[in-house]
Amino acid sequence: MRFAGRVDAIGSSAIRDLLALTSAPEVLSLAGGLPAVETFPTQRLADASARLFDLDPGSSLQYATTEGHAGLRAWVAAREQERSGVACDADDVVVTSGSQQALLLCALALCEQGDVVVTDDPGYVGGLQAFAAAGARLVGVPVDEGGLDVDHLARRLADGLRPVACYTVSTFQNPGGATMGEDRRRALAALADRYGFVVVDDDPYADLWFDRPPPAPVRAHTTMTAHLGSASKIVAPGLRVGWAVAPPELRSALVRLKQAADLQAPTLGQALLAELFADSQWFESHLAMLRTTYAARADALVDALVSRFGDRLAVRSPGGGLFVWASFLDGTDTEALLPVALRHGVGFVPGGAFAVDATHAGALRLSFATNPPHRLAEAVDRLYAATTDLATHR
Ligand SMILES: Cc1ncc(COP(=O)(O)O)c(C=O)c1O
Repeated sequence: MRFAGRVDAIGSSAIRDLLALTSAPEVLSLAGGLPAVETFPTQRLADASARLFDLDPGSSLQYATTEGHAGLRAWVAAREQERSGVACDADDVVVTSGSQQALLLCALALCEQGDVVVTDDPGYVGGLQAFAAAGARLVGVPVDEGGLDVDHLARRLADGLRPVACYTVSTFQNPGGATMGEDRRRALAALADRYGFVVVDDDPYADLWFDRPPPAPVRAHTTMTAHLGSASKIVAPGLRVGWAVAPPELRSALVRLKQAADLQAPTLGQALLAELFADSQWFESHLAMLRTTYAARADALVDALVSRFGDRLAVRSPGGGLFVWASFLDGTDTEALLPVALRHGVGFVPGGAFAVDATHAGALRLSFATNPPHRLAEAVDRLYAATTDLATHR
């Protein structure tokens, strides 16, 4: 068989390949980006599906519109308006099959073969794959503690770089844990307006803050943006429901591409979410539970890393989300460390898996989401033993 070039352009996700290795029962895995199963509102979902099947099976099991469930779109719009301070109507929302699909649809809508897309470096692998599949030429922009380095981007633009889009995870970034501050968001929006590119603001973690909510999304400062959200990290990923808030012409492109892809997002998943979100008191208490659970795990992981490794490891303490990004300062190569770590019973993702232009050879991404604090401490002990092992056999 002959395959199109785009298949090679995306390759496979190093992380998905890695998950196969780290899922062995003896391995404490900090590699995956999965939310914690015990946080899923299983009973609520069971009750809601019983109600839906009883009262109105058509609304949960029939084909539905491509744009998505009216009640869910209205809920997304209301939250978007509250967060951004900019008017948002249900018509501004397209519901997608996970926010991953919104990424691919944005990429297909915006990119011709070879078009430049500037992006977080390190970046979210699924997003990079989506843009690569659409033929984009990815150009990395460094991410530091304050998120995407917008001054760096401004210099590249002044030097003549002309992207069609900027893809960024602005809040509690995957993989770096960083959040773009208010000033950078404004500056990025101004660059988008000036140079005519679209900011694809991929934002599935915004509700998972620990101490304080993140700044308003980039959409607060420009219309040149698609703001993506997801139910995966706040309810459950298996429902496969995400969304894009976008201006009319981009939205209509997304809808046409979505019709070609899969007609619509899952009717049942959307109907269940609309039921759950309608009880705002329950939903706020659910979010509070997620924040407390993940904050305690993040603290446990950061504390263990700092006390075990001291000055050898620069640890970025996240303000929310699911990830800690850390960088060895003693020359440890995390690609070489991984097989040793797996032998010691701990898994992580080496920084190189998220690389666009830089190598991130001394960095690693650790997820704290799926392990309670005592297991995170044990995982860090194992990681420490692996680094000692690697150093003595170097
Ligand atoms: C930054 C980011 N964007 C998008 C996704 C895709 O999420 P979903 O398709 O489940 O909404 C993920 C999943 O981990 C992610 O981390």
